[in-house]
Amino acid sequence: MCGIVGYLGKRNAADVIMDGLAKLEYRGYDSAGIAVLSDKKLDIRKHSGKLAVLAEDLAKDRMEGNLGIGHTRWATHGEPTDVNSHPHFNKDKSIAIVHNGIIENYMELREELVEDGVEFLTQTDSESIAHLVDKYYEGNLLDAVKKTLNRLRGAYALGVIAKDSPNELVAVRKDCPLVAGVGNGELIVASDVTAILSYTKDVYYLDNGEIIHAKDGKIKIYDFEGNEVQKETVHLEMDLETASKGGYDYFMSKEVHEQPAVIKETLERRINDEGTIVLDSINITKEELEKINRIYIVACGTAYHAGLLGKHAIEQFVKVPVIADIASEFRYADPIIDENSLVILVSQSGETADTLSVLREAKKKGARVLSVTNVVGSSIARESDDVFYTWAGPEISVASTKAYTTQIVSLYMIALDFAIKKGSISRAYYDHVLGKMLELPSQVKEVLKGEQQCKSVAEKLYQSASAFYLGRGIDCSLAMEGALKLKEISYIHAEAFAAGELKHGTIALIEKNTPVIAIATQEKLFEKIVSNMQEVRARGAYVISIAEKHNTSVENTADDVIYIPNTDDILAPILAVVPMQLIAYYASILKGCDVDKPRNLAKSVTVE
Ligand code: G6P
Repeated sequence: MCGIVGYLGKRNAADVIMDGLAKLEYRGYDSAGIAVLSDKKLDIRKHSGKLAVLAEDLAKDRMEGNLGIGHTRWATHGEPTDVNSHPHFNKDKSIAIVHNGIIENYMELREELVEDGVEFLTQTDSESIAHLVDKYYEGNLLDAVKKTLNRLRGAYALGVIAKDSPNELVAVRKDCPLVAGVGNGELIVASDVTAILSYTKDVYYLDNGEIIHAKDGKIKIYDFEGNEVQKETVHLEMDLETASKGGYDYFMSKEVHEQPAVIKETLERRINDEGTIVLDSINITKEELEKINRIYIVACGTAYHAGLLGKHAIEQFVKVPVIADIASEFRYADPIIDENSLVILVSQSGETADTLSVLREAKKKGARVLSVTNVVGSSIARESDDVFYTWAGPEISVASTKAYTTQIVSLYMIALDFAIKKGSISRAYYDHVLGKMLELPSQVKEVLKGEQQCKSVAEKLYQSASAFYLGRGIDCSLAMEGALKLKEISYIHAEAFAAGELKHGTIALIEKNTPVIAIATQEKLFEKIVSNMQEVRARGAYVISIAEKHNTSVENTADDVIYIPNTDDILAPILAVVPMQLIAYYASILKGCDVDKPRNLAKSVTVE
């Protein structure tokens, strides 16, 4: 989502704004821009891609000046191009604005302004705001902004500056976040406090329908009717790191709890008003799809585990054989790839060296490469033929959580889209699955309500030397992720097994109180996994089962049952992984480990 920063004070505005925009990168964006009043002119720079592209521009040609606004854009109206990036400006570049939100009546405003003789440069809803402020500007910027607000419908946070008024910054909040920091003779406005905290800890939390106005050293707040609002600043005790954790003790906890919101984001960004998935950055036609006779899904770590679930979904929906493999193996396996192969790479960071090398190898062999990644403009994203962004926002904790669930959702959406294009599933089934997927955000929320139970399970297992994760069908792929979470952050030896395979060796390791997490979400395999639970329980295992809430009979065979809401079998892993993330999280805390930065591990592995 867009982020905005505005600055007026004694510092170099561009430095403060660029630093603030970097702090807002987590919101997700596809372009960035900045306007600074410099030498009596508005110097406006904007670029699609990462903030680094804009930073490079500024490094070559520094922006001097003490007043400015900046923006990271998450495209809604119009492609993420340089020209569509913010700040937007009026015809003679004397007024610049940044906007976060959506102007619902922008079409009618645009028509009116075109009749007035305005030439629009962009396809955005936001550009109208710059022209409206211009239309109403008669030497008083605050008045012009107020008149403009009367014309806008929708949600917005705005920052506005004008060339003729070097000591004036106007910012507005309506249904989009905006915080204002007040320092020594300076005002910094931003979409959240992380962009402000390095400069001041005194902030105004603006309410909806408020305008903050700094002019000639005075800062005032008004409502939309123009009445002055009396407000006290709040002195924040938190440091930058605490603020970035949003009140959670660890990034991992924050990221686990962000899952309902980010899954919603991943889904809703791609579903149009007709309830159809629109994969705008994947350009594979029906004809091309028909030629694909083999799909490879290649990744590392948690992303590989998401890939295993993607394999199930693609085979089930698209009816094309899928091979899921680990990148470090695949790259040396001399795989049979040709122009009829599609290689799907999954990578949170988009920078993992092994995955990147598979990409290059696959392209050399003529395959089409589609990547599912979280980082806009990452190497894997740039070098792939098609990209699907997961929109999970930055994942800081080394243990991947929200990236994993959004990777699965992304792969399922790709599978559904391919399947409906190929005609391998009916529209009714497509609608049914998509409908169930749209229930996931609220269902994950429901699972998160069981956090205390996960904590008490962790209390029972954190002193164990090892733990086993069992599953059948796709629960087996999920068990691998559950085991990885536990071992990477709590250092408890954990292994995942296909439940039916256990008796061929591993069951010898089961002794009194060995924790066994048995995932039992697959309807047609339910009785089978229950039998496996009986087998380990008979040998003294402490069995914790994760099952759908209608399957209460599992209580007869498990010592603890964690229920998840009922859903389709293929979607159950997205719910069932959440308790396993939380069990690992609490086991790590109980063992006194560094939850977010486990020993020996790196978030992004850019070496082979
Ligand atoms: C590292 C991380 C894992 C991640 C894996 C793949 O090992 O610690 O959490 O799953 O790399 O990373 P990627 O960025 O390609 O998803």
